[in-house]
Amino acid sequence: MSDTMSDTKYLYKRGETWWVKISVPPRLRPALGYDLRRSLRTKDLETARRARNEVVADFREKIAQARRDHDVTAEATPGADPSGNGGYPIVARQDFSDVTYLLEVHHPMLARAAKPGQFVLVISQENGERIPLTIADFDREAGTITMVIQAVGKTTREMQQRCVVGAGLYCLVGPMGLPSDIGRSAKMVFVGGGLGVASIYTQVRAAKEAGAYVIGIVGFRNKQLIFWQDRFERYCDELIICTDDGSAGIHGLVTQGIELSLENHDDIEEVVAIGPPIMMRACAETTRPHGIKTTVSLNPIMVDGTGMCGGCRVVVDGEMKFTCVDGPEFDGHQVDFADLMGRLRRFTEQEQQAVEKWEEGLVGAGAPGAER
Ligand SMILES: Cc1cc2nc3c(=O)[nH]c(=O)nc-3n(C[C@H](O)[C@H](O)[C@H](O)COP(=O)(O)OP(=O)(O)OC[C@H]3O[C@@H](n4cnc5c(N)ncnc54)[C@H](O)[C@@H]3O)c2cc1C
Ligand code: FES
Repeated sequence: MSDTMSDTKYLYKRGETWWVKISVPPRLRPALGYDLRRSLRTKDLETARRARNEVVADFREKIAQARRDHDVTAEATPGADPSGNGGYPIVARQDFSDVTYLLEVHHPMLARAAKPGQFVLVISQENGERIPLTIADFDREAGTITMVIQAVGKTTREMQQRCVVGAGLYCLVGPMGLPSDIGRSAKMVFVGGGLGVASIYTQVRAAKEAGAYVIGIVGFRNKQLIFWQDRFERYCDELIICTDDGSAGIHGLVTQGIELSLENHDDIEEVVAIGPPIMMRACAETTRPHGIKTTVSLNPIMVDGTGMCGGCRVVVDGEMKFTCVDGPEFDGHQVDFADLMGRLRRFTEQEQQAVEKWEEGLVGAGAPGAER
């Protein structure tokens, strides 16, 4: 048999049909995140070889990159990072207030794949609860993603205590959800309320980079709670700050900021609002009479985050949607906010019990900060 005839590497024959199969080493499969097998139905060996060569060339770089990343993330698998804490390493932390904190985590594959509007699922420690968090920023060069978190219940408070630089997140999956459709409008208003300010930042940056005229409106309870003003100033053509107590910017709600923008500009094409449901509903009602497209990012309780459990269902335009796979962004004029808010209150009692039990555990363990 000649060399040419024997060149059937990655080629398999079933019956009369040749097909290409490149199997990825098992240890790289989680890093690559997809299956590299490719089939090709041809009876001609030369055609099969050419197809194989193209597939090999295409994947060679991806495999090499995955191998490099694997060497990094291998250290980030539970129990394997140099800190001994396990998980994806937390490389920076910043506390914006006594309840709001930022975590920057090393995960190169995720940082490369992340797009504005997407979120991750986090389990902070073994046997911990899985929670969704928005990708507030990503740095492809540094290989990090950033999350800004509000300590509202057991898991987010637990994370506030244990997630320090040098520790790790036990599990970090993503990017999840559909990315924002940025670049479709020439003049856009982005509204962030409280924590929503962090969630909307990557969209503001992407819209500016896509050439849009960007008006940012950010709302906080008071001046002390303001964060990322410098980041918004960098990418907004106009920035309106609103505070509930008037200690900075406009004394009032973000809806007043929207009204002000509408008075000053008659060519606003789209408004995007992220924050508590009550704020997003108010924003949608402000733009409704003007017929301006208004996008909101919904935050129902999620369980699996993959469209399997139905826990995150919301009603949009009379139809049931799953926020984790159909969203998280939807047309604000079509969202049934009353249903969303009702569903968010469903487990209040259990959530309260979880916090109480956790606090009791802290007292028992004599943890710092626990009441005695
Ligand atoms: C797509 C998506 C993105 C999110 N992004 C962020 C983020 O970037 N930063 C962040 O801090 N939080 C974010 N959340 C909300 C976050 O997941 C919840 O705050 C968290 O799961 C609460 O867990 P817990 O155990 O600390 O509190 P729990 O005990 O579960 O809840 C405590 C309190 O928070 C309320 N709550 C629970 N889940 C939610 C929710 N999904 N939205 C609003 N309130 C909730 C409960 O009604 C209760 O009042 C996001 C949610 C979704 C669906
Ligand atoms: S969280 Fe389960 S379907 Fe969305």
